[in-house]
Amino acid sequence: MIRFNPQTKVLHLTNGKMSYVVYVNDYGYLETLYFGAPLTDADDIHCLRRSAEWHDSSFYYDKKSGKEYRHSDCYMSNTAPQELSAHAAMDKRYAPLVIRQADGGYLTDFRYVSHTVLDGVPDVPGMPHARGGDCQTVDFLLCDGYGLQLHYYLSIYNDKNILLKSMLLVNDTPHTVHLLRAMSLQLDLPDAQWEWTHFCGRWQKERDLVRAPLIDGVQSISSNRARSSHEENPFVYFSRRGAGPTAGEAIGLNLIYSGNFACRVEVTNYGATHITYGISDEDFDWVLASGQRFHTPQAVVAYSADGEDGMSQAMHDFIKQNLVNRRLDDKTKPILFNSWEGCFFDFDTQRVLSYIDDGRTIGMEMFVLDDGWFGARNDDTAGLGDWRVNTDKVDLKRVVAHCRQCGIQVGIWFEPEMINYRSDLFRAHPEYALTGNADQASCIRHQFHLDMANPAVVDEVYRQLSAFFDEYHPDYIKWDYNRIVCEHYSSALPAERQGEVYHRLTLGYYHLLERITAHYPDLFIEGCASGGGRFDLGTLYYAPQIWASDESDPAQRMEINYTTSLGYPLSTIGAHVNASPVANYRTKAILALFGTYGYEMNPNRLTQEDREALNEVADVYHRYHKDVVENGTLYHLKNPYLGNFMSMQCVSRDRNTSLVVIINRKKELDRFRYLKLQGLDDDKLYHNDYENAVHTGEYYRKIGINYSREWLDEFSCRLIVLKAVDANE
Ligand code: DGJ
Repeated sequence: MIRFNPQTKVLHLTNGKMSYVVYVNDYGYLETLYFGAPLTDADDIHCLRRSAEWHDSSFYYDKKSGKEYRHSDCYMSNTAPQELSAHAAMDKRYAPLVIRQADGGYLTDFRYVSHTVLDGVPDVPGMPHARGGDCQTVDFLLCDGYGLQLHYYLSIYNDKNILLKSMLLVNDTPHTVHLLRAMSLQLDLPDAQWEWTHFCGRWQKERDLVRAPLIDGVQSISSNRARSSHEENPFVYFSRRGAGPTAGEAIGLNLIYSGNFACRVEVTNYGATHITYGISDEDFDWVLASGQRFHTPQAVVAYSADGEDGMSQAMHDFIKQNLVNRRLDDKTKPILFNSWEGCFFDFDTQRVLSYIDDGRTIGMEMFVLDDGWFGARNDDTAGLGDWRVNTDKVDLKRVVAHCRQCGIQVGIWFEPEMINYRSDLFRAHPEYALTGNADQASCIRHQFHLDMANPAVVDEVYRQLSAFFDEYHPDYIKWDYNRIVCEHYSSALPAERQGEVYHRLTLGYYHLLERITAHYPDLFIEGCASGGGRFDLGTLYYAPQIWASDESDPAQRMEINYTTSLGYPLSTIGAHVNASPVANYRTKAILALFGTYGYEMNPNRLTQEDREALNEVADVYHRYHKDVVENGTLYHLKNPYLGNFMSMQCVSRDRNTSLVVIINRKKELDRFRYLKLQGLDDDKLYHNDYENAVHTGEYYRKIGINYSREWLDEFSCRLIVLKAVDANE
């Protein structure tokens, strides 16, 4: 609900579980008065405004009257918490917007004109965005001295603790301006008693948790690789000092975007926190001609007054209910078998058929042929860009027919945005590749990135992919992306627009996805980028799940899945059982169950015992995955970064069923171990199949499952199923 009091000029966004309060001051700046636990009354601005008498340096000189004035209204133009700091003015904190105006100056100073309250949330044309829901948006119209207009959108969800922030810049002046920074969010918090957690990484070690106190100066994370990246994920969160999963305030941030981003966290000399977040401004220079408009992506803000899991759950609910493609995500998902780690590029028709037959013995319901089926592709040096079946290598018609006969769905791998120099497409159109303008170009995995800023390239890739879809009718594609952009120079754009290349590459990616999802609405897309190098909300809008990492060794993967799930629902986390010798198949399968669940090994080599273990977990998948893991509520019980155990718990929405995983890395010799559970109904009775005992929800919450009875060797992994039982049963 959004309430505006015209007397006090206070705008109160609240859903009864949190409040966000903005004050329109006498100068037209939007001051951030409050963000936190819900307020019943936010009208008393004098209580809410901080440091009211401290404006000794905040004066201004009026050129017309030739006089100096003290800011009225207690406004501190350099330090007041705001929604939008001005640039090239007294405020020296990072501004979210920087514009080089037609006169060459950098003054970017937008003031309030009016506001309207809308139901829902406005779409962001050409980009992924929240799909509405039970929410309202304030559309602030602001204007600068040059006549540029800015719509600043601030939305609140009524059914979850989520805010959205984004901007739309409209150039209705006769002049061209340069947008040098166009971020989505500024968030000012009045103190710095927070720790922030972000997720750095690399190939096979994505989303490695880093927690650090906020300290004086600027700390930042970013990507300049043209993808959200392995190196830093766009999800970050802030915890009140001392907060943990079940207590304390937490604020999560994410961006509905897949390209370069930057999140800057500044602790000011007055000890306040100033955050700006959005598209990275590195080499960003967007030419906004007269009559043009520019939309920033939407930033997502999740809030919890009751611990980090509350913040995570708000993010999960938003992603599941308001972001992903429900038409695809709501379907019951088949158990997927992927060919990659089983045979890599080394297959022929017979081998593929044998994988399908043996995959069926472990419950496979969809067969995915990974890399190597097209063009001249027998290793990674050739073929990308030529999306026609290599019929000398594999008879794909026969493979598809075999799957259909067995009632198995069919999936196939693509890497649409890439090109090998050893390909017909490159030979015909070398200008389609982003190779820069020097004599040498970076070559990663023997391939180049396509110039997705060129609409002709998007057309060509769409033409090839749709020809394949129309002939083979796959149910699923894995959309891979195995290199970063190095030479961000597009020969399709004029010199003055090279500062648009990074963002246009991302827009080209979205444009291709838009066309594919519009024409093939039932085609399920799984995102991928050398594992989890593009695990972000932009991709999730089109692809309801993303391959989380090329690391499926359970010792590493349990950390990757755990940290990823702090910001993203388990249903989005592509997780497969592979042939890693580190743990047995049962353990690996239980871990994959707390993700999408699938297989990726040579199924010809499985023993009878392996098959039995996998079938047992496949059975659990069918019984509980949809309601409990995919659509349930997730609790993080034991953080593997803080000890020997990793444990997560999912609870169905009706709170009748719960699945718990607990695993230790090293031998565990502690004697007294009780696993306290969350999310159950205190008054209900639940049977747990670990102790074969029945206790109340309150008992599980306060005492927990006695986990001390066993000797725990390395990688002792348990799956515990709890079911509500009738007192009379
Ligand atoms: C990287 C992906 O992460 C793998 O799963 C696999 O699809 C390979 N690419 C294929 O080249």
